[in-house]
Amino acid sequence: ANKKIAVLVGSLRKDSFNRKIAEAVQSLASANLELEFLEIGNLVYYNEDLDHGNPPQEWTAFRTKIKEADGVLFFTPEYNRGTTAVLKNAIDVASRPYGQNSLAGKPGAVVSVSISALGGFGANHHLRQSMVFVDVLMMQQPEAYIGNAQSLFDDQGNVVEDTKQFLKTFIDAYEQWVNKF
Ligand code: FNR
Repeated sequence: ANKKIAVLVGSLRKDSFNRKIAEAVQSLASANLELEFLEIGNLVYYNEDLDHGNPPQEWTAFRTKIKEADGVLFFTPEYNRGTTAVLKNAIDVASRPYGQNSLAGKPGAVVSVSISALGGFGANHHLRQSMVFVDVLMMQQPEAYIGNAQSLFDDQGNVVEDTKQFLKTFIDAYEQWVNKF
């Protein structure tokens, strides 16, 4: 069975390490997982007023994409020991209007990617905290804290072998997780 997975990257930077790692994961995923990147930089800040009447078209399209997905995969940088505003905003948009949380019940997973040796632990768990409330069932193991991101690519921009192997283990475990739902 083919599973469609929505991929949210919490960095808007052109040369984002999170995006590069996400693309590596996409290429390592088995043919049964279809990873689709959803762009979140165009979602205006969540404001409940905008959900009374006609919500922004970008919100509606994004919510529909999330609803259609069989799972959600997050890649988050760490900004000041938390996830990024752009990613938190996307989660807020997806979770509303009240009673129409498009994320509810989906199997999720998170990879945090940082240039620090700590691997974005703070951001990873900050995101997991919100997942409890929006009812995304997060894969627990393996945890994915990718540190020293600037040193994980060779001259051709490919992910170095040991990280690649870890990412393969991670995405295969996520496939099994998704198949439980
Ligand atoms: C950072 N960075 C950072 N790194 C970290 O490990 N812990 C942190 O708390 C922070 N805080 C932080 C705040 C702000 C505002 C910025 C812009 C950056 C550094 C961060 O890991 C680095 O910029 C990564 O390259 C961001 O990920 P992308 O954009 O490469 O995907």
